[in-house]
Amino acid sequence: MTSNLEAQLLALRQEGEKAIAAAETLERLEELRVNYLGKKGELGALLRSMGQMSAEERPKIGAIANTVKESLQISLDQQRAALEAAQIQALLEAETLDVTMPGIYSPQGRIHPLNGIIDRALDIFVGMGYTVAQGPEMETDYYNFEALNTPPDHPARDMQDTFYLPDGNLLRTHTSSVQIRYMEREEPPIRVVAPGRVYRRDNVDATHSAVFHQIELLAIDEGLTFTDLKGTIKVFLQAIFGDLPIRFRASYFPFTEPSAEVDLQWNGRWLEVMGCGMVDPNVLKSVGYDPEVYTGFAAGFGVERFAMVLHQIDDIRRLYASDLRFLQQF
Ligand code: DAH
Repeated sequence: MTSNLEAQLLALRQEGEKAIAAAETLERLEELRVNYLGKKGELGALLRSMGQMSAEERPKIGAIANTVKESLQISLDQQRAALEAAQIQALLEAETLDVTMPGIYSPQGRIHPLNGIIDRALDIFVGMGYTVAQGPEMETDYYNFEALNTPPDHPARDMQDTFYLPDGNLLRTHTSSVQIRYMEREEPPIRVVAPGRVYRRDNVDATHSAVFHQIELLAIDEGLTFTDLKGTIKVFLQAIFGDLPIRFRASYFPFTEPSAEVDLQWNGRWLEVMGCGMVDPNVLKSVGYDPEVYTGFAAGFGVERFAMVLHQIDDIRRLYASDLRFLQQF
């Protein structure tokens, strides 16, 4: 009886350890634990039969049963630890990134050369305390001409071939119209820079386009002089083109007096790059500013012209053709 039960216990241990070692999942391991060591498990069933044993046999079998129980528990713990470690290892392997693998190529976008000039110019003026403003591309005759000291029949209207719309409005020929709109809604002191699209009734060729871009500049304050204008333009042009010789050449614009063209020495030649001048008192009067109190200066330049000089572009049309072979150079 005794040796029979002892043999059964030892057989149970052997069978149990084999099954535990073969368990491949934590679920299976739990099944085995319940099966062998659980309340209704096999070890329990064997021990219940101890009730029929004599008092000398019982402790002996009890001790054997304890070692069987302990060693099964140890096997379960070891297998559990091994399975958990394998699970973590598998997760790590599944989630590993091979940083040496070649990436997926996606083409990089670029800033269009015109936007590049606009961004740089606005940055420079914002750095000098200017505010950026915009105005409409469809304008009234008043904002584009009249308020800028260019009444109907003024000969200066011939300076800018204009697209007139059937309702009498027009496509703005310059960003100078933003000067008037901005001064009407703000009070001096004013420092404003206005980029935008402008329109001229020009035949398209290598240096002309019916649509192009300008940046306008306006400063109004008490005591501003031509020296302030020169200093501002110089700082700006040097920031864009580098430290090149510049000169101011007397010129005419109806909205400034005196007026000047600014030339830049570029590859040994004088290039005209912008128009400027002291704001004409009539312009200040048109927005209700007292010209006895306020003075100011203004300037305007073509963005395409800047881009063509800076990047040595031979034909303005390249800037609008969206040819990637051209655009990818910038
Ligand atoms: N509006 C002029 C043009 O389109 C450029 C210009 C000249 C703007 C002198 C100004 C200025 O503000 O003062 O040709």
